[in-house]
Amino acid sequence: MTSFLVIELESTQATRPGTVLGDTLRRYWVPAFRSGLLPEPDGEAKAVVLLGERLVAFRNTSGRVGLMDEFCPHRRASLAYGRVENDSIYCIYHAWRLDVDARVLECPGERNPALFAKRIKHKGYPTREQDGALSLYQLISPLFAELMSSQSMSIPSPGPVGACTKPWASILMGSASP
Ligand code: FES
Repeated sequence: MTSFLVIELESTQATRPGTVLGDTLRRYWVPAFRSGLLPEPDGEAKAVVLLGERLVAFRNTSGRVGLMDEFCPHRRASLAYGRVENDSIYCIYHAWRLDVDARVLECPGERNPALFAKRIKHKGYPTREQDGALSLYQLISPLFAELMSSQSMSIPSPGPVGACTKPWASILMGSASP
């Protein structure tokens, strides 16, 4: 049975999308949760509340982590109850299938499922897992993902796991430095 774990991380109305603070924070990599929340490929999906948004996280068959809008783009069922397998998550309601990049791959029951799936957009965030202390975090940023992957920005290590005494906001400020 799917466990339903909700984590509150600075989740106030002020950090929702569309607010000044929320939109600003979403321009940076944000520590989201410990990697241990998703210990194994194809494990249970987890509901996460982050910056005032309800999201679902899962680790796919290849070990990559997806972080996206919790509610299915079809009829808004919670994807936290979805089945994680085959490098994707299947909605428990009508079995729509999404990958870790929030792309809809299959829409069973539609007249032309492949074509239909291409037209659907689902909101998702890039994720990044790192070794060392910051490997404890998943990081999200819709806007800065390309910069990070091009290595023009790097995330400083705050030290050995367990030794970091900085609040997460300090780590965030450090990660924003070029
Ligand atoms: S509500 Fe998710 S597939 Fe229908």
